[in-house]
Amino acid sequence: MKLPQTVNILLLGGGGREHAFAWKIAQSQRLEKLYIAPGNAGTKACGVNVDLNPSNFPALKQFVLNNYINLVVVGPEQPLVEGVKDYFLNDPEIRHIPVIGPSQEAAQLEGSKEYAKAFMMRHGVPTAAYFVVTKENVEEGCAFLASDRVRAPYVLKADGLAAGKGVLILDDLGEAQRELRAMLEGKFGAASKKVVIEEFLSGIEVSVFVATDGVSYKMLPEAKDYKRIGEGDTGLNTGGMGAVSPVPFATEEFMEKVRTRIVEPTIRGIREEGLDYTGFIFIGLMNCGGEPKVVEYNVRMGDPETEVVLPRITSDLVDLFEGIVHKSLNEKVLEVTPQTAATVVCVSKGYPGDYEKGMPISGLPATAETGNSLVFHAGTACCKNGEEVVTAGGRVLAVTSLGDSIPMATARSYETIGNIDYDGLYCRHDIGHDLL
Ligand code: AMP
Ligand code: GLY
Repeated sequence: MKLPQTVNILLLGGGGREHAFAWKIAQSQRLEKLYIAPGNAGTKACGVNVDLNPSNFPALKQFVLNNYINLVVVGPEQPLVEGVKDYFLNDPEIRHIPVIGPSQEAAQLEGSKEYAKAFMMRHGVPTAAYFVVTKENVEEGCAFLASDRVRAPYVLKADGLAAGKGVLILDDLGEAQRELRAMLEGKFGAASKKVVIEEFLSGIEVSVFVATDGVSYKMLPEAKDYKRIGEGDTGLNTGGMGAVSPVPFATEEFMEKVRTRIVEPTIRGIREEGLDYTGFIFIGLMNCGGEPKVVEYNVRMGDPETEVVLPRITSDLVDLFEGIVHKSLNEKVLEVTPQTAATVVCVSKGYPGDYEKGMPISGLPATAETGNSLVFHAGTACCKNGEEVVTAGGRVLAVTSLGDSIPMATARSYETIGNIDYDGLYCRHDIGHDLL
């Protein structure tokens, strides 16, 4: 597969991650035309939004043929786990159009916790000890929890995709055994028909991102994500309330361990197993007293981490995509600013529980850039008249700023958020505080 000098790109997805991708792609000298399916109110300033469901593969095929698309970039995991890459490769009419993302088999690194754990075992990638349970061996699973092979807190994970909700961490043995049975009975639907029990890793988490052409790789800037709804990292888990990059505790020495012990064995494993992987790998790591261990693989970029990773990259993103497609990533140069990027996510009242949509948003800039910030849309939509922008999701905006320090970057984002309003706007005011 060969990319022409200028390209028409179809980007799949419609969250904050995709607005950040669209914003960065739109800056490329090599872009002819960008389409985003379905996109959001913010991505309209970067290209053309298309009312297409990324899981409707026949509709994607029609669209890419009708619009002379040269490259498809997949934002979220769902279409990858459903096999969008394989759909393209198996159809003679569209197999020449490269897809940034792994095959369905390789996407199991995110789609099945058991697959990911077994892969890590085969390739010596450090991770928590684990035990797989299905209905057939539920008694063995309960006995495992009670044995001296694990200790509280007990980590129970649904094997399949569960929209970020499939992990339980429990202190009480009896409760862990009850929850294990409930998960196998379908507490998280089909995703928890199989459960992975894991050793609890204590430490501080960091998100590491790798671009790969399946042979070579480039490490992108790392980030720290703030998962809980409440300040001081309290309350319910969310899709992410903010992020910071770089991460001060991810020192050169620590990142060298990540590279040699985790990234390289992972890429070698992909190569040795003949997995078709041309895209991004998101490695969720725990820093256990200076030793990195893998918590999870994701087969896509993180959200809201992308909103701090891409603004730090100063080189051309389409050029990086070309390296992935042409399997010449090792010849490409990735330039990164040493400045700190911070993003603060504004959510709807009630999130991550029930929330209302359709609240008019005031004070939004016309494009992402405003003053010292970048306002990325996550859950937004244009109202019927096309003028008004309204909330359309739990996470509404991700406001990113660059600065010489974490306090400078976050202060800029909070200042920008001060000019924006909608009914029920909430954000955490402590993004980055734990890193000072
Ligand atoms: P996952 O879906 O695997 O990313 O898990 C969701 C979250 O649960 C992670 O981001 C961690 O904060 C936490 N978690 C998952 N596995 C472990 C573990 N083995 N030890 C401690 N925390 C974990
Ligand atoms: N921020 C975590 C994720 O994208 O899964």
